[in-house]
Amino acid sequence: MKQTTDFSKMKESNEKIVMITAYDYPSAKLAEQSGVDMILVGDSLGMVVLGYESTVPVTMEDMIHHTKAVKRGAKNSFIVVDMPFLTYHLTIKDALVNAGRLIQETGANAVKLEGAEGVIEKISALTRAGIPVCGHLGLTPQSVGVLGGYKVQAKESSEARKLIADAKRVEEAGAFALVLECVPKQLANEVTKSVSIPVIGIGAGIDVDGQVLVFHDILGYGVERVPKFVKQYTSLNPLINESIESYTADVKNNLFPEDKHSFTMKEQELKALYG
Ligand code: KIV
Ligand code: NA
Repeated sequence: MKQTTDFSKMKESNEKIVMITAYDYPSAKLAEQSGVDMILVGDSLGMVVLGYESTVPVTMEDMIHHTKAVKRGAKNSFIVVDMPFLTYHLTIKDALVNAGRLIQETGANAVKLEGAEGVIEKISALTRAGIPVCGHLGLTPQSVGVLGGYKVQAKESSEARKLIADAKRVEEAGAFALVLECVPKQLANEVTKSVSIPVIGIGAGIDVDGQVLVFHDILGYGVERVPKFVKQYTSLNPLINESIESYTADVKNNLFPEDKHSFTMKEQELKALYG
């Protein structure tokens, strides 16, 4: 299994880091089999697999439940788990207790926290307590209400300057990596050069140390519309629809099950049964 230090080495040697989300046993197993470098149990699970409008309703129990399943599917992968909305903002003690649960109860390797203001001190406290932390700047979906929607962040120079400073603070606080979401590619490149920790982009262009995408987005599985920054490698939705429609038609038309799907009783047992 890769360690946090392997990811810094990958940055140094210009080897791209591949991260993908997973939310359950099969997605985790397939991600690990496909050779990704790390798995994120994102709180995007609230939208992708629980059907919420945002990540805000996701609870500690949701994250623990799903991360346990991911761990069972990907025993040899480095797993990062998102701390849900408002579970690291109240006090440092709160952040420690919640991060501790996420790590201890699930077997995940690290936690991810969104933002900088009021969060930097939590990153230091968790790191000092021995919990590896991944930062998350740019578009931070847990703040969608404040940001006014899911849109590109830090397009203006003053916001860009602030973001670069925040990335440095996240690094100084001890984070081992930083997710940078939905920012102009030039800014992402600047951030990547400004910090020594790996920067993993999503909607942040190519000049970063790695990429992360949502499992269901790249496979076109369940999701309807995907953001501009997603590359869809296949579209499972129509395949799944066609398969379930065929199954439905087969059952309605007495075409399923066939003999090969059925079990039989021996002739003599049948006689004994009916006399
Ligand atoms: O929850 C999530 O999937 C994430 C990634 C988009 C970075 O935080
Ligand atoms: Na997230």
